[in-house]
Amino acid sequence: MTEGMMLYLTLLLAFTPGVLCSSHRHTRQEPVSETLTKLEQEFWEWRMLDAPMFSTSVGESRHNDIVESFAPDTYTQRKVQVADYLSRVSAIDRTALDQTQRLDLDIFKGFLQTFLDGAQWNSYFTVNPVNFLEGDTADPTRMATIMPFSTIGDFENYLQRLLKLPGKIDQEIQLLEIAVSTGRTLNNVSVAGVPDQIDSLVQKTAHVDNNPFYQPAFTTRLDSSQVPLAKRASLRARADKAVYDINEAMLRLKAYLQKSYFPATRTSLGVSGWADGKAIYETCLKFHTTTDMTPQQVHDLGLKEVARIQGNMNAALKRLQFSGTIKEFYDKIRTDARFHVNTSEEVLRIFNDYIFNRIFPKLSTMFKDIPNLPLKVEPMPFDGPGGQYASGTPDGSVPGIFYANVMHPKQKAMISAMSLSLHETVPGHHLQSIYSLTSTIPKYRAFVEDDHYYRMPATFPINTAYLEGWALYSEYLGEELGMYTDDYMLMGRYSDEIFRACRLVVDTGLHYFGWNRDRAIQYMLDNTAESRQGLTVEVDRYLTWPGQATAYKIGEIKIKELRQRATDQLGTHFELADFHSVILQNGGMPLNLLERLVDDWIAKVKAMTHPGSDPLVG
Ligand SMILES: *[C@@H]1O[C@H](CO)[C@@H](O)[C@H](O)[C@H]1NC(C)=O
Ligand SMILES: *[C@@H]1O[C@H](CO)[C@@H](O)[C@H](O)[C@H]1NC(C)=O
Repeated sequence: MTEGMMLYLTLLLAFTPGVLCSSHRHTRQEPVSETLTKLEQEFWEWRMLDAPMFSTSVGESRHNDIVESFAPDTYTQRKVQVADYLSRVSAIDRTALDQTQRLDLDIFKGFLQTFLDGAQWNSYFTVNPVNFLEGDTADPTRMATIMPFSTIGDFENYLQRLLKLPGKIDQEIQLLEIAVSTGRTLNNVSVAGVPDQIDSLVQKTAHVDNNPFYQPAFTTRLDSSQVPLAKRASLRARADKAVYDINEAMLRLKAYLQKSYFPATRTSLGVSGWADGKAIYETCLKFHTTTDMTPQQVHDLGLKEVARIQGNMNAALKRLQFSGTIKEFYDKIRTDARFHVNTSEEVLRIFNDYIFNRIFPKLSTMFKDIPNLPLKVEPMPFDGPGGQYASGTPDGSVPGIFYANVMHPKQKAMISAMSLSLHETVPGHHLQSIYSLTSTIPKYRAFVEDDHYYRMPATFPINTAYLEGWALYSEYLGEELGMYTDDYMLMGRYSDEIFRACRLVVDTGLHYFGWNRDRAIQYMLDNTAESRQGLTVEVDRYLTWPGQATAYKIGEIKIKELRQRATDQLGTHFELADFHSVILQNGGMPLNLLERLVDDWIAKVKAMTHPGSDPLVG
């Protein structure tokens, strides 16, 4: 986005609402709920323009030809804009709203307030937009993955974005320069791998047909598109040139990292090495857990969970009549051919079998009104985590996709394939996503900008604890659904669960309690089934995204606690499918508001089942 456009946008937003209000005054008093709805819609329109890739990912194609501005003053302007929205939403008379609208108002206010709380640390987070886990260097396929390729306009849009990418990369370098000059850089572990990523990308351009910015868009996608044959050659020639310019920009980034950024990386591992580091980490935890838990509380909860899960593991080992330690068991599994497959195709076949033949047929026992939107399992195009889910669109034209990492079939034991399936697809991320997409909640609640983790907490909330808590709770639901059909599969589930419990200990350890990398890796080695190499990447991830990894366990524990409360209070009137609908149909929200939602629902069910007995309702 150019600065001229930004100015125009700000002016438009500043004046339009006033015009609307005064014309209304002449006709009728606008209901308060309508004021809220309109403000939410206006906010959404602004978000779509401000974050055009997010706009594309939700199926809105109006901004498909632009890329987000990474210019340093964008962040200041965005903060001003959000503060303006917050003051307008704060002026809304809460008492004139019903219970559902009040919750909506509180979610909206909290959404904006969380952004502003995080934005006070802009000068630490937004200035470090490059790391080994995300962005155009780590995942150059992302842009093409979410864009449509059918008409000539689609290809022109994509080409426009490619043409703008070098400018964006140069803006990122400018941000890194600020980080270096202010001494607010990442630790080297977060960036050391980036030059190799760039090299591998640039090498692929020796044959442009291999470059992920060029293919499959301008190869197979163009071949099967509606674009007239006569126009294809010129599109390809322009794309070829664009890719060349992108490479040049990537090489500038690499040179900057090596010459200036690496030597200036922070020497402390965690963020506590920054001035204000402790307060910064507390904000990170709050952003991701959506609670007020202190680092000490998170750390202690982790230790307690690790011990509890070890108890479950030992019970399973007893049933298996395995006499060694937990660690010995997992070491044995890692090298036992019975628990491995040989090919990527076989891994995909197993995931498809688990998801579509085993889990789906059982879902109706604990869910109702399940939206009918498509799901696909696809191989992950890069060597990322074990699995990743990308939401589809509400009209079903883009399916939800579970990207499974199938690159190392022989090294990965399959005992965790069931819990991963439950987590990424149903009842986990996919089911959560399709309930949200088809519900009537405002769009900013239904869609999550699953991007720019480096920027958190200085950005809009994504309710990590709700989203990842739900997915981890889904791994647990696999037990009730009868999906873990033997103790080996159960041990796979426990290993995934203890992994998330360890994160509470290690993330706080690294960022708050001064742990070094070896201590963190050793703690994970002692308590999980993973290899040293995998755990090193894992620990470097915690260092790069402070607090993020703690949200899974915190959210899961809260959802289980709310379910227990509802069961206790409603007794025989408790319906699990209804409880799940309450959680899922309202989309992601902070855990304290989720708690209020469930409490309100409990009161309503009580009033319906014991009419007149509840003075709070009616
Ligand atoms: C950072 O990592 C790069 C790449 O491995 C290395 O060349 C450089 O020496 C490291 N710098 C520091 C300060 O550790
Ligand atoms: C994998 O390959 C080995 C060696 O060829 C074979 O013994 C084993 O049965 C194969 N495993 C599977 C699951 O097909």
